[in-house]
Amino acid sequence: MLFPSLLQASALLLFSTSTSAQSSSSSTACNNSPSLCSRPYNNITHLGAHDSPFLRDKSTSFSTSGNQYYNSTVQLSSGVRLLSAQIHKNDSASSSADKWRLCHSDCKLLDAGSLSSWLSEIKTWMDANKNEVVTLLLVNSDNALASDIGPQFEASGIDEYAYAPASSSAVKTWPTLQSLISNGTRLVTFVASLGDPSTKYPYLLNEFTHIFENDYENESPTEYACTPNRPKGLTTSDTGGRIFLMNHFLYSTQVFGIQQPNNTYVNVTNAETGVGSLGSRLDNCTEVYGKAPGFVLVDFFNVGPAMKSVDKANGVESAWGEWEWEWGWEWSGGEEGEFWGGGGGGRGCGGVFVVGRGLWEKFLIG
Ligand SMILES: *[C@@H]1O[C@H](CO)[C@@H](O)[C@H](O)[C@H]1NC(C)=O
Ligand SMILES: *[C@@H]1O[C@H](CO)[C@@H](O)[C@H](O)[C@H]1NC(C)=O
Ligand SMILES: *[C@@H]1O[C@H](CO)[C@@H](O)[C@H](O)[C@H]1NC(C)=O
Ligand SMILES: *[C@@H]1O[C@H](CO)[C@@H](O)[C@H](O)[C@H]1NC(C)=O
Ligand SMILES: *[C@@H]1O[C@H](CO)[C@@H](O)[C@H](O)[C@H]1NC(C)=O
Ligand SMILES: *[C@@H]1O[C@H](CO)[C@@H](O)[C@H](O)[C@H]1NC(C)=O
Ligand SMILES: *[C@@H]1O[C@H](CO)[C@@H](O)[C@H](O)[C@H]1NC(C)=O
Repeated sequence: MLFPSLLQASALLLFSTSTSAQSSSSSTACNNSPSLCSRPYNNITHLGAHDSPFLRDKSTSFSTSGNQYYNSTVQLSSGVRLLSAQIHKNDSASSSADKWRLCHSDCKLLDAGSLSSWLSEIKTWMDANKNEVVTLLLVNSDNALASDIGPQFEASGIDEYAYAPASSSAVKTWPTLQSLISNGTRLVTFVASLGDPSTKYPYLLNEFTHIFENDYENESPTEYACTPNRPKGLTTSDTGGRIFLMNHFLYSTQVFGIQQPNNTYVNVTNAETGVGSLGSRLDNCTEVYGKAPGFVLVDFFNVGPAMKSVDKANGVESAWGEWEWEWGWEWSGGEEGEFWGGGGGGRGCGGVFVVGRGLWEKFLIG
């Protein structure tokens, strides 16, 4: 067995604290922490799962094109708040729902299903987690129009949660998490790029109007940079008020030039400290811009755990305040076993440990 499934893990839950305090604080925590409710959307560091639906797990026969060990639902339940994906077009598809698919580079390499079914999965999670603000970043590989993407949002019903700013130009003042939650507009969607922002689908935002990124094509930690790479023409001192998305993952180039996520080094890449670690890159880029990135995008988000560095950037000491509990399971080998849900502390159990948040409780036993 490569690694235990979460359901197997749930059978072995070992709670260390009572859960009674948890329900009382659920109504006041936003995105896992009460301290974040009053912060504007662009003053929070969101943990992002790069290529969220592209999995390296049983469902893809452990595809080497996969960027994540756990699916989008598990990512959200673990504190990930930005999910990225690539949209590709299948010209021979007979229905509009099948036409827009989530594929890694090419549908022959890894096809993770239709956009609308992935949106339904996310909606199901948002239905159950009413105090959470979720961001989507859709890489528009085949130049879909707003009129192609919008109907997929409607088909899944997730458009019900979509946030639409007053105009399609750059947002100057982002709402707080609490106001997004109170207004029922908890889903923020960026598309890279959207040629035709549409008044019919005002919630589909052109990414580079609102966000800038550092370079993402790195194969070695020596290549990381904080400087703006997209959109073109920005400098560290003039980013036009855009939110900084920090790419922090490594590719490795295989035969025939195929790029794959570098998972052998991810324990270093996603670590809190050390050269090339997420924690130290967050420090470096925070110094450059005088504030933390709004989003960090990582592969294999559970390793590190990446959430720890993000909690630190947010000044969140212990996610969910007193909601600290932990469990472990027997480990039977395999490199992908480590799982970490974020917040709190815990001790290993056969080389693996899991620390949970309130959301984990809902996911595993709710
Ligand atoms: C949020 O604001 C605080 C205080 O100014 C700052 O330290 C932090 O870096 C900001 N975070 C982001 C993501 O803007
Ligand atoms: C996500 O993964 C979990 C744990 O493996 C599984 O129980 C769940 O059914 C998956 N959800 C979806 C929508 O695939
Ligand atoms: C595209 O759609 C056709 C027709 O439904 C189907 O046979 C084919 O497998 C699809 N290709 C991909 C890559 O999904
Ligand atoms: C909340 O909704 C009200 C009424 O539609 C609107 O005036 C206000 O701008 C919205 N606030 C945010 C933060 O979107
Ligand atoms: C992953 O990155 C590290 C650091 O750059 C490198 O030493 C290693 O060879 C890479 N692994 C693969 C499979 O390319
Ligand atoms: C990463 O994993 C390698 C191989 O298991 C190990 O030698 C190294 O010490 C680990 N580094 C960190 C920062 O965990
Ligand atoms: C990045 O941050 C680390 C500490 O987190 C520091 O040791 C290193 O010198 C910094 N690098 C740059 C290029 O600023």
